[in-house]
Amino acid sequence: MASLAFSTTGTRISPPYTAVSDKFMHVRDGSFCGKSVFSKKHSTRDLTITNVASKLPATIPPPEKKISTSDRKLVAWTSIRQERWEGELVVEGEIPLWLKGTYLRNGPGLWHIGDYNFRHLFDGYATLVRLHFENGRLIMGHRQIESEAYKAAKKHNRLCYREFSEAPKPDNFLAYIGDLANLFSGASLTDNANTGVVRLGDGRVVCLTETIKGSIVVDPDTLDTLGKFEYSDTLGGLIHSAHPIVTDTEFLTLLPDLVSPGYLVVRMEPGTNKRKVASVEVPLYVTFHFINAYEEKDEDGRVTAVIADCCEHHADTTILEKLRLQNLRSSAGKDVLPDARVGRFRIPLDGTPTGKVGRFRIPLDGTPTGKLEAALNPDEHGKGMDMCSINPAFLGKKYRYAYACGAQRPCNFPNTLTKIDLFEKVAKNWFDEGSVPSEPLFVPRPGATEEDDGVVISMISDKNGEGYALVLDGSTFEEIARAKFPYGLPYGLHGCWVPKK
Ligand SMILES: [Fe+2]
Repeated sequence: MASLAFSTTGTRISPPYTAVSDKFMHVRDGSFCGKSVFSKKHSTRDLTITNVASKLPATIPPPEKKISTSDRKLVAWTSIRQERWEGELVVEGEIPLWLKGTYLRNGPGLWHIGDYNFRHLFDGYATLVRLHFENGRLIMGHRQIESEAYKAAKKHNRLCYREFSEAPKPDNFLAYIGDLANLFSGASLTDNANTGVVRLGDGRVVCLTETIKGSIVVDPDTLDTLGKFEYSDTLGGLIHSAHPIVTDTEFLTLLPDLVSPGYLVVRMEPGTNKRKVASVEVPLYVTFHFINAYEEKDEDGRVTAVIADCCEHHADTTILEKLRLQNLRSSAGKDVLPDARVGRFRIPLDGTPTGKVGRFRIPLDGTPTGKLEAALNPDEHGKGMDMCSINPAFLGKKYRYAYACGAQRPCNFPNTLTKIDLFEKVAKNWFDEGSVPSEPLFVPRPGATEEDDGVVISMISDKNGEGYALVLDGSTFEEIARAKFPYGLPYGLHGCWVPKK
């Protein structure tokens, strides 16, 4: 975007929230903050550290544990079986030889501590999964991120930090008062970095959640937790978006602005930990994720509008209720997934290419100056649409293709992978009955000239409790390879591509 001006100081960032979410959903009233209103169940399970391959290739050992038939079928919503595993997978099909690098996927993969079960998808402790592609071979590994919240939970066998919808129970009144103080200071907020993982322009790989303290540097090769990512600026604040835009030259993210309702757009350059900030005002709408945005120009090259696309949930926050684990586990096969679409904002800019920006005003339908509408008929992707990626070379530019999780009804959760053509306004869909695919990540072929020349990688939790890595052709959207995991993995959220050095 051409018109945002950044400054390094002067804007105060919000006080703590009682909970934060993927949670950092873009709603204006902020009324979705987590409440512990869920029912409680118990079971007895433990984590073990086994099957760690010291040298590659490793053979895949059989799973160490038996799990119940019901849990097996619900593997997408069941805690990861082991703390870590690494080994080579058997590939069916053919992985392109040009595909060299590592796909990292982060997500909440452990939903219990001792006998206590968490209740919401977003509460789980972070599980980082690694798919390393080289010479047509595929090495997989997963590992829990060693956040303070995770280590404390393991040590004390109970919840010690405030998660999305969970809060530690105080032992007595004095402890309750102490907890309140810790909430307002941010000390009790979690650093459980379970939402995203990004590779910064300087090569550092950082796992993120919506708390500032939940920014954790990891080693993409070993999945070791290396330490906290500490910001060196004076912006302060306790929460931010876990969905930054990251390129080789910048890092852009959002912070809540409670002084002027809306968001602060924050920029950070590679090699630094220092953020700069500008301000944007937003209207009432609901999305977890933006897809892309670019400037629309007339035939003389003047900027006439900003186009911004997002996975839009019709200003309806009920999706958060649907993501309670109990609902995900009990409503399989029922058609209860709320509708979603590619929401396209068009913000006229009256032909001024780079005006002064302090604040963008983004009007909605019904106003004379801007509109929000579906970029294509939502039936093309089953009225389900979220967890998206594009060709990174088209970030901030006019683009044609988006890859996302869509829906084949009836379903209670996105159950397809969809390739959306925003020019032709059609979608191609991949579907495997009973499976839960995670965010499709597009990796362009080196030297490609076509936008969709590359592959799409996803991880699938299937109906039998098993799972596999899936590679689709970015153009035809046909499967070209898959590799079965030693056991099914829980559903994950966001990922990134780390090219081979
Ligand atoms: Fe997200």
